[in-house]
Amino acid sequence: MSIHILGIFGSLRQESSNQGLVKLAQQMAPADLIFTFYDKIGSLPFYNEDLEDSSRTPASVVEWRNLVKSADALFIAAPEYNFGPSAVLKNAIDWASRPMGQHVLSGKAISLVSSSGGTGGAHMIEQLGGILGLLGNTVISEPSGQIPKGAARISADGSTSDPAISALVSDRLQALIATAKILRK
Ligand SMILES: Cc1cc2nc3c(=O)[nH]c(=O)nc-3n(C[C@H](O)[C@H](O)[C@H](O)COP(=O)(O)O)c2cc1C
Repeated sequence: MSIHILGIFGSLRQESSNQGLVKLAQQMAPADLIFTFYDKIGSLPFYNEDLEDSSRTPASVVEWRNLVKSADALFIAAPEYNFGPSAVLKNAIDWASRPMGQHVLSGKAISLVSSSGGTGGAHMIEQLGGILGLLGNTVISEPSGQIPKGAARISADGSTSDPAISALVSDRLQALIATAKILRK
């Protein structure tokens, strides 16, 4: 069965550069794998444990969890907001991390990159990488996923004026595929 990569971006901005990073990864992905571009992170309600009763779980949450479950690997691009992850991305992770002990966000290969402001997302990558690791995933940390002031160089459609950004996405994609194949064995 083909490797399945789920592409996620942690910004609701229409011209999001992090959306562009995921689109670029999708464009670069080899034809023999499945790459699903998820752009509905904003449709997930705020996490509420009362909705864990299956008769009340929103359809958007069920769809999100099924997508994560079916993926071998996640390619995540997200901005840093106030030295941490964006609320929409953390919310999506919280939904995918429950019910405790049977959740879908475990055993995945994960690449985390960040088009942010001056820090290039250093704090966000460290915090979110730690969270995803604690949930039981393998987070790729090399080459560095920090892209300072990325919005000036990455368009939402995936085009970029900077060959170093294309090279970073290509390297991360290859590492993600290789890690996903190892985890499948
Ligand atoms: C509320 C807010 C807080 C931010 N905090 C940081 C920060 O702590 N570090 C940083 O490098 N950039 C910070 N930024 C800048 C964003 O990371 C940057 O604009 C990023 O490109 C937005 O991603 P997008 O293009 O995908 O929407 C912040 C932006 C906003 C709106």
